[in-house]
Amino acid sequence: MSTSTPKRSQTPKWYATAVFYQALVHAFQDSNADGIGDLRGLISRLDYLAWLGIDCLWLPPFYLSPMRDDGYDIADYYAVDPRYGTMADMEELIAAAHARGIRVVTDLALNHTSDQHAWFQASRRDPSGPYGDYYVWGDDPQRYPEIRVIFNDTEESNWAWDPVRQQYYFHRFYSHQPDLNYDCPSVHREVFKIIRFWMRKGIDGFRLDAIPYLYERDGVGGESLPETLHFIEQVRALVDAEFPDALIIAEANQPPAQTMEFFGAGNRVHMVFNFPVMPALFAALATGSAAGVYDVLDKLPELPAGCQWGTFLRNHDELTLEMVPPEVREVMYAAYMPDPRAKANDGIARRLAPLVGGDCRKLELMFSLLFSLPGAPFIYYGDEIGMGEDITLPDRHAVRTPMQWEEGPGAGFSTAAPQWPIVGGTSVAAQRAEEDSLLHFVRGLIAQRKAHPELALAPYEPVETGVDAVFAFQRGSLLCVHNFGAEAVDLGPVELGPFGWAWIPVE
Ligand code: GLC
Ligand code: CA
Repeated sequence: MSTSTPKRSQTPKWYATAVFYQALVHAFQDSNADGIGDLRGLISRLDYLAWLGIDCLWLPPFYLSPMRDDGYDIADYYAVDPRYGTMADMEELIAAAHARGIRVVTDLALNHTSDQHAWFQASRRDPSGPYGDYYVWGDDPQRYPEIRVIFNDTEESNWAWDPVRQQYYFHRFYSHQPDLNYDCPSVHREVFKIIRFWMRKGIDGFRLDAIPYLYERDGVGGESLPETLHFIEQVRALVDAEFPDALIIAEANQPPAQTMEFFGAGNRVHMVFNFPVMPALFAALATGSAAGVYDVLDKLPELPAGCQWGTFLRNHDELTLEMVPPEVREVMYAAYMPDPRAKANDGIARRLAPLVGGDCRKLELMFSLLFSLPGAPFIYYGDEIGMGEDITLPDRHAVRTPMQWEEGPGAGFSTAAPQWPIVGGTSVAAQRAEEDSLLHFVRGLIAQRKAHPELALAPYEPVETGVDAVFAFQRGSLLCVHNFGAEAVDLGPVELGPFGWAWIPVE
């Protein structure tokens, strides 16, 4: 291979040092008293994000959708769902965010559409028409036996029968989400058109949802195939040529080596979520041993120039365990899933604070890791106030309940009865009033991270301490130490209490 690695540029790109915040439109703020959060509500809360120190907002799908997968089932990529507002509201949100120095990245679900999408309706009715090949049709529902069923709570197969076309269609997720056919050149053209449309509206980047699954091939299955990586290179080439400041993030929940593939030589995506390290952090906290975290990071070599990890603790999905070894999965279930209703597919649909039993020391430890590990930190809305969950709700809605702004019935989220119940117990207002709250702690950590750009940019260098519970590493001139154990440890330069942590300046 003769690909040359691009030279390290002097000025880091904006995303390398940014702090991200994921807010679900329907759960953040309702502006018109229908119980559903909306874009205008979100606009009214941008000042809060600015106060917190957020640089970039990640907005999951707000497109027209039957909402059978919380909007990841897109019926029209060019329309805002009327529940959330209008195109004018979206334009105003982008402008209002930019006015506060906050960028906006949105989700792009390219692997599949809703079965309500006009392409699918045309494809099923007219196999030889212009949309006939837009989806993956077949007569054999046993084809691709290597391909696992991801939503195994609800689906038994990746194929569903269509009575109209009298054929099966392939779906990686819900059966109402048919997979687009990337062997069809028109599908590529549609994707490029969608990207241009939103970029021209001023969007600063995209999260490529479920991106490993674009292609499937007999004998090898359907994850991270060379064809998929090649398509990503084409997306990147378009973005580099026309929107050079934009960010592309991959949602690729894959083993470490395959995860690395999404960066390529710096010619695929700019950022990949660090799915390998996330469960390792929770496993370390459960076992009191840092060994697994060192191991995972060992398998993730330094990134090509211009690339960055996206580090996260929680998001809108279950805490995914598909890629961890079975023994780790069992440890995780035992530690974090006392009630089986919290299980979603192979993972655990719980929020950060309840996962760690509401223990402030563990919460601060996990946030310290989020802000000091190599990568750009992503905060999931509500986790900065240690919001709770409702595991009685279906699918992953346990972790998607309304943001709690104030005490009281509507929690400052809505004056109407909310579409999804409010968990309660804490609020932004209550924590803003208290200097030693989690909210102030997180805000302070964001400020500290910004004061130490090396936490965003310097290489990660593991440091052995000889104490199994301790995870230590250097980032530039900072030594970051984390104690996963319930016993205090004396490390010489610093003493750490149970679940203690420190960022120590070194020579
Ligand atoms: C991604 C999303 C998830 C969604 C799935 C199918 O994994 O994060 O929420 O259900 O894609 O669209
Ligand atoms: Ca509303």
